[in-house]
Amino acid sequence: MKMERRRSFPAVALPLLAVWALVMVVPCFAGDPYAYFDWDVSFITAAPLGVKQQVIGINGQFPGPVVNVTTNWNVVVNVLNDLDEPLLITWNGIQQRKNSWQDGVLGTNCPIPSGWNWTYQFQVKDQIGSFFYFPSTGFQRAAGGYGGVIVNNRDVIAVPFDKPHGDITLFVGDWKALDDGKDLGMPDGVLMNGKGPYRYNKTLVPDGIDYETIHVHPGKTYRFRVHNVGISTSLNFRIQNHNMLLVETEGSYTVQQNYTNLDIHVGQSYSFLVTMDQNASSDYYIVASARFVNESRWSRVTGVAILHYSNSKGKASGPLPDPPNDFYDKSFSMNQARSIRWNLSAGAARPNPQGSFRYGSINVSQVYVLKNKPPAVIDGKRRATLNGISYSPPETPPRLADEYKLKGVYTLDFPSRPLKGAPKIGRSLIDGTYRGFMEIIFQNNDTKMQTYHMDGYAFFVVGYANWHG
Ligand SMILES: *[C@@H]1O[C@H](CO)[C@@H](O)[C@H](O)[C@H]1NC(C)=O
Ligand SMILES: *[C@@H]1O[C@H](CO)[C@@H](O)[C@H](O)[C@H]1NC(C)=O
Ligand SMILES: *[C@@H]1O[C@H](CO)[C@@H](O)[C@H](O)[C@H]1NC(C)=O
Ligand SMILES: *[C@@H]1O[C@H](CO)[C@@H](O)[C@H](O)[C@H]1NC(C)=O
Ligand SMILES: *[C@@H]1O[C@H](CO)[C@@H](O)[C@H](O)[C@H]1NC(C)=O
Ligand SMILES: *[C@@H]1O[C@H](CO)[C@@H](O)[C@H](O)[C@H]1NC(C)=O
Ligand SMILES: *[C@@H]1O[C@H](CO)[C@@H](O)[C@H](O)[C@H]1NC(C)=O
Ligand SMILES: *[C@@H]1O[C@H](CO)[C@@H](O)[C@H](O)[C@H]1NC(C)=O
Ligand SMILES: *[C@@H]1O[C@H](CO)[C@@H](O)[C@H](O)[C@H]1NC(C)=O
Repeated sequence: MKMERRRSFPAVALPLLAVWALVMVVPCFAGDPYAYFDWDVSFITAAPLGVKQQVIGINGQFPGPVVNVTTNWNVVVNVLNDLDEPLLITWNGIQQRKNSWQDGVLGTNCPIPSGWNWTYQFQVKDQIGSFFYFPSTGFQRAAGGYGGVIVNNRDVIAVPFDKPHGDITLFVGDWKALDDGKDLGMPDGVLMNGKGPYRYNKTLVPDGIDYETIHVHPGKTYRFRVHNVGISTSLNFRIQNHNMLLVETEGSYTVQQNYTNLDIHVGQSYSFLVTMDQNASSDYYIVASARFVNESRWSRVTGVAILHYSNSKGKASGPLPDPPNDFYDKSFSMNQARSIRWNLSAGAARPNPQGSFRYGSINVSQVYVLKNKPPAVIDGKRRATLNGISYSPPETPPRLADEYKLKGVYTLDFPSRPLKGAPKIGRSLIDGTYRGFMEIIFQNNDTKMQTYHMDGYAFFVVGYANWHG
C-alpha cells in the first residue's frame, strides 16, 4: 500500500509529516527506550466473593500490575511460570510487528511449562491508549492473571483532551469458580478490580466482602480506563449521577460524547473522562451489570464499586442507577455501538499508518463469512465450531512449524463460507494474502452473545447488523 494524502481530513497528515521530519533531522537519538518487567506468575489465595479460592497472581498481585509505557518503547517481560500448569500470556490489541510468532496464543507460541520462564519482547508503536493482557489458554483468565497496558503518547504527539487529574484503571468481568468439563452457566458474580460488590442490598450481597473504592477530589476530571476482562458476560457500565465522556477505545480516539451508561463486551477497553461535578452529600455507585439476561435472576451477579469524593458526607445508599430496560430488544445496544465514531482528525498514531485512510475505497482482496453455531457433539465431546470446523490446536504452533519448515502440521483450506454437512474437527487455517485487505463477516447462529479476540491485529469495524432482518 502506498501512503495517500487524505483530502477529507487534512489535519492528520500535517502532524504525521511533522513527526517524520523530526525523526529525520534528529537521527542521533539512537535506540528507542526499553522497559523491563520481571513477573512471577503463581496461584495466590483471594476471596473476591467472600469464599477463599486460588487465583492467578502476578508478583503476588491480583489483578496484575499495569504495564505503563510510551509509544515506541520496547517492552521486555520475563515471565516465570510458577503455576503447576502451562501458561501463555497474550497482549490484547497490541499489534506484534517484528515478532508475531510470540504473541502468546496457541497458534504462535508454545505454552511456558510449569517452572520455566519465557521473555516476551515487543515494541509498542502507532497505538496510543488502553489495552490489557491475559492468560490465553484454557480458562485461565477466568482465574485472573490479567492486568492493564497503557501506551502513552510521546510529548510531540498531541492528545485531543486536557491532561486529566488522575488515571484510573478498572477491570470489570464475570467471575466463576470453574468445574472441569461443565458448561459455564451463570457466573457467581461480577468483580471490579478483583473485588466483589459493595453491599448495596443486604439480601443480595452477603456481609464481609471487600469492595473497590475509587478516591477522587471534587471538581477534578479523571480518566477511567475500563476493561471487560470476563469470560462471556457483556456488561453495562455506569457511574451514578455522573456523565462519562468517551474519548478512546483500544488505541483509537473517538468523537467525544457523553454516555450515562455504556455496554462493554468481553475483551473491550474504553477510556472515559469523568468530572466530579456532583455534590458530596454521599458516595456514588459504580456499576457493571450483566446484559441480555433475565435481570431478576442475575441481579445478585452485579459488580458494584464506590466512588468516594474526598469531602464525601456519607455512604452511597438506595437503589443502583437503572440499567437500560431492554431485555427483549437488542437494538439499544447495537445503536449505542454504532454511535461510537472514530475521531479521524485527532492527531494520533493509527493502526494503519503506512496505508490508505480512505477506508471506503480500499480494494478488499478476501471476504470470509465466519459463522458460529451452538456447541455440537463431535467424537463424544461438546465443541464449538466456526463454519462447521472445530479447531484442534496442533502440538507444534503453526508459526513455529513455518519457522522449522515442518509439513503437515496444519492445512490452509479454511472455508470462506460455512461448510454444509456434519461438523468436524480440523487444523485448518485461513490463507491470508500478504498486504491484502480482508473483510470478515461474523454471523452468530448461537442463541447467546459471542465475542471474538482478533489476536495481533487492529481491526476497523465497518458495520453491525441483525443478520436476520
Ligand atoms: C505512567 O507513567 C507516566 C510517566 O512515564 C506517568 O506520568 C503516569 O502518571 C503513569 N500512569 C499511571 C497510570 O501510572
Ligand atoms: C529466564 O530468566 C533468566 C533470569 O532472569 C534470564 O536470564 C533468562 O534469559 C530467562 N530465559 C528466558 C527464555 O526468558
Ligand atoms: C477530534 O479531535 C480534534 C483534534 O484534537 C478536536 O479538535 C475535535 O474537537 C475532536 N472532535 C470531536 C467531535 O471530538
Ligand atoms: C434487595 O433485593 C431484593 C431482591 O431483589 C429486593 O426484593 C429488595 O427490595 C431489595 N432491597 C432494597 C432495600 O432495595
Ligand atoms: C458532557 O457532560 C458534562 C457534564 O457532566 C458537560 O460539562 C460536557 O459539556 C458534556 N460534553 C459533551 C461533549 O457533551
Ligand atoms: C446532592 O445531589 C443529590 C443527587 O443529585 C441530590 O439528591 C441532593 O439533593 C443534593 N444535595 C444538595 C445538598 O445539594
Ligand atoms: C426470569 O427469571 C425468573 C426467576 O427465575 C422467572 O420467574 C421468569 O420467568 C424469567 N423471565 C424470563 C423472561 O425468562
Ligand atoms: C483499487 O483497484 C482499482 C482497480 O484496480 C485501482 O484503480 C485503485 O487505485 C485501487 N484502489 C486502492 C485504494 O488501492
Ligand atoms: C441459525 O441459522 C438458521 C439458518 O440460517 C436460521 O434459520 C436460524 O434462525 C439461525 N438461528 C439463530 C439463533 O441465529
